[in-house]
Amino acid sequence: MPAQHGHAMLVRSLRTHRPEWFSRPGIRMLEVGTTREAIVNQDSTRILAQLCHEHGWSFTTCDMDPVTAEKARTMFAEIGVDAEAVAAKGEDYIAGHRRAFDVVYLDAYDFDHGNHSETRQARYEEVLGERISQHACELMHLRAIQGLGRAGRRRCLVVIDDTWLATDENGDVHWVGKGPQAVPWAEAHGWDVLDVSMENRAVLLERVPMEERVRRRVHNAAGTVKWGLLRRYKKVKRALRGTPN
Ligand SMILES: C[S@@+](CC[C@H](N)C(=O)[O-])C[C@H]1O[C@@H](n2cnc3c(N)ncnc32)[C@H](O)[C@@H]1O
Repeated sequence: MPAQHGHAMLVRSLRTHRPEWFSRPGIRMLEVGTTREAIVNQDSTRILAQLCHEHGWSFTTCDMDPVTAEKARTMFAEIGVDAEAVAAKGEDYIAGHRRAFDVVYLDAYDFDHGNHSETRQARYEEVLGERISQHACELMHLRAIQGLGRAGRRRCLVVIDDTWLATDENGDVHWVGKGPQAVPWAEAHGWDVLDVSMENRAVLLERVPMEERVRRRVHNAAGTVKWGLLRRYKKVKRALRGTPN
């Protein structure tokens, strides 16, 4: 298991990529997948809520399990932070928002590593009506990132936990864990992969603002035009010199 989970990467990434946000109150953070057991190297809900509290940011955590959401509310009251715990499917909660979040930690529907306890499986059956499946995990995280196209703010940062790169028997590299569908979709729809942490087993995505996307497209197109012109120019020069193509 990794030393620390993706929330450690999220905190590190904020310091590296958004240091100016630390002096800007009003930043809005969403966590999807609340802490269900506060075990060593997890406990993301407390850590992220405290970080937000210290900087005057707002913090919402969302979990499909109402018992877990209630535990988070009790914990917020104990440590004295003003944060919100929502009991809902994260993908649905995200779909109900528009330009609402600057930072998102996606660590929800468990990936199927084959070792989930019967208690955990029973909780999925009770709340979601199904046992843990890899397909449902991938789809849930895909829906979440799709929703963030609308619900994420301009320079939104997203960390997807339990997502890393692995090589298969043919030597091809694939995303595994929670993000095999979410990450490729994001890359094709206006998000950049800024970092991949094999230590935290997590991936950092950044929403590329529209004008930056347009600028890149124009730049790429201009590059194509330039190379095209150069090829034509060389062809004309060869023709004038009488050398074969
Ligand atoms: C790995 S745990 C989260 C761990 C937590 N982030 C931490 O580090 O302490 C995954 C959580 O996702 C929740 N979950 C599963 N499917 C979900 C969904 N569709 N929407 C929101 N939460 C979901 C589970 O109930 C569980 O509490």
